[in-house]
This record gives sequence, C-alpha cells and structure tokens, in this order.
Amino acid sequence: MSQEFRILVLPGDGIGPEVMEQAVRVLKRVEAMAGVDFRLEYALAGGCSIDAYGTPLLDRTLERARGSHAVLFGSVGGPKWEGLGFDLRPEIAILRLRKELNLFANLRPARLFDPLIDASTLKPEVIGGFDLMIVRECVGGLYFGEPRGIEQLSDGGRRGFNTETYSTGEIERVGRVAFQLARSRRNEVCSVEKANVTESGLVWREVMTALHQREFSHVTLRHMYADNCAMQLVRAPKQFDVIVTGNMFGDILSDLASMLTGSLGMLPSATIGATNGDRFNPAVYEPIHGSAPDIAGKGIANPMGQILSVAMMLRLSLGLPQQAAEVESACIQALGEGARTPDLGGSFSTVQVGDAVLEQMGRLRTSSVSVA
Ligand code: IPM
Ligand code: MG
Repeated sequence: MSQEFRILVLPGDGIGPEVMEQAVRVLKRVEAMAGVDFRLEYALAGGCSIDAYGTPLLDRTLERARGSHAVLFGSVGGPKWEGLGFDLRPEIAILRLRKELNLFANLRPARLFDPLIDASTLKPEVIGGFDLMIVRECVGGLYFGEPRGIEQLSDGGRRGFNTETYSTGEIERVGRVAFQLARSRRNEVCSVEKANVTESGLVWREVMTALHQREFSHVTLRHMYADNCAMQLVRAPKQFDVIVTGNMFGDILSDLASMLTGSLGMLPSATIGATNGDRFNPAVYEPIHGSAPDIAGKGIANPMGQILSVAMMLRLSLGLPQQAAEVESACIQALGEGARTPDLGGSFSTVQVGDAVLEQMGRLRTSSVSVA
C-alpha cells in the first residue's frame, strides 16, 4: 500500500490561486513519480472566505488543518477587504493558523540561485553564493502581545497600541530550532533584537546567551541589533548563516533578504511547531510574498516561492527529502534556461514557469533512470 498524506490546500486571494495551481501541478508530478498518495483537500481562507462565510477562517477549516500532515497556503488580502475591523481581516486566516496550531518557528531560507545573480539588486561579488536561513518567531511578539487596541482620547484623537513581549520559554524553543539548523549548515547563529531599547529585546538576548552556553556552546553565537542587521544584510549579506529573531523583525528582515535573491516572489517558507518523530505535522508552507493585487489575474505572478514551499513541505512534513531536492533542482534548472516571470526581468507567464519546472522534473527522472 502506498503512503498516504493529507494536505490541506488554501490558495487564498489575489495571485494565491494562480501560483498555487502551478505548485499543485508539481505536487501531482511528485505523487506520480514517488508512488505516494497525496489526498488534497481544498478550502477557502482570507478574503474569499470572508465573502463566502463572513469569516477569514472557518473553525471547520482550522480543524481540517489540525488533522492534516501539512497545509499548503497561498496568500491572503486585497484592497476589497481593507476597511474591515481587525478580527475580520483576511490576514487573520494565516495568523490564526500559526497561533492555534502553535507553529512557533517560521523558517525562511533566502538563497541566491546561481542563474539569478543578475536579477539581484546587489553586485555579483557581494551577493554570489548568498545562503541565509531566517528563523522568525511566529506566534508571539508584537503580533500577538496584549494589551492591544485602539482607544478614543478626550481630545478627540485616538491612540493605537500594541505590546511586544517575549518570555524565556518562547525564546528558548525558537532558539533551539535555530541552533539545530545551524549544525547542518555553517554552524553560526546571529540573534537579532533591540536589546538597547526594549526590555523584551534584553530578555531575548539574555535567554539566547544562556541557552547557547547550556546546550549549544559548539555553535557560534553572536548578537546584533535589528537596525544594524538590516544594514549589514545589504552591506555584506554573506556574513550570515542563520538569523533568529522575533515576529516583527523577522517579517521585515525576510522581505529585505528576499529581494537580495532576485525577487520577493522567490522565497518559500515553512512554519513549524509540533513534531511527529522526525517530521513536523501539521505545518504550514507558504511563499513569503503577499496577494499582490496589482498583478492578480494577469497570469504573470512568479510561482517559484509557492513551488519551493512544496519542496520544503516534502522535506520537513512528508519525509520525502529526495523528491524535495528534485523539485529544487528542477526550479534552478528552469530558471537557468530563462523561465522567469517579469519580477525577475523575464517574460514568462505563471503557467509557462510551471511548464518549465515540470519539463525539468521529467528530464531529471529520465537521466536518473538511465544512470540506474
Ligand atoms: C508574512 C506576511 C504576513 C505576516 C501577513 C500576511 C499577515 O507578511 O508572512 O510575512 O505579517 O506575517
Ligand atoms: Mg511579511
């Protein structure tokens, strides 16, 4: 009997469904090649769910996510839903999935693929060989801290407020993920906060230092303020191996890092928490880009971030590392042969990039068969 995996597919809004279609084609190809059984279930999330059900994420959908091996997520949001109150915004769909499934570590690999060296905004000698892993804390910090709200002031104005909090346990668990990842990379962790200005940053630094001494002294650890880190990422990006940071700084620094790799459309992500042996189940896989309403419906969105998210899912949640590597090489080969959407300076459509990746997967298979 072939192995069976339950995958919940949430394409979302804007370009989400367009890039998801290509990712699902790749997934189906993997299914056929690996002889496994992917049970794909589709559901609405974000603005489309608000339109259909009046809520960004149904409880039922959340429960289906909980019962899945993995969730493949597109992107949510758009101008149509911008005026809505906070608990009704499309973004709540992804925030709630992360929070309720307790997916506390968001892995955002930013790697420059050789064929894209000319697409980066940085000079080749500065960016060539860039390979960074950002580990972003994902269920705490400024995104979820209490109290939060908007209050009316007596002078007629209003005051919006949020709270940045991090406690020992929250820092340690995400810190461990970063140190463990570093071991299979260049063995260096850079912990990023604003310990010079915020108490939460100070606690973050102290907890990371203690964790390092206690459990990971064989990994190199350094600390950096977030503003300096942003500057260093564009000055000398290759100095970093693994960056670990809180929710808000991770959001900002990962967008910054993505552009160094050629386009925001390139970056995949995995949001992990619970483990099941050596696999993360469930976990959420999504590109880091948003719903890009400006190009939605034009068929020109870059599907690479979504397809590479499939690769991360194969590796981390489904125990299919070889297939993950095949998808990644097919993407790199396709890029090398010019399969690039306009964000990368090319003229391929979303579907044509999908075609090119599938074609490369076919070639990989033919070459490995002939070697065998
Ligand atoms: C991201 C996105 C989300 C975030 C939004 C859509 C809520 O920007 O995944 O980086 O801020 O986390
Ligand atoms: Mg973001």
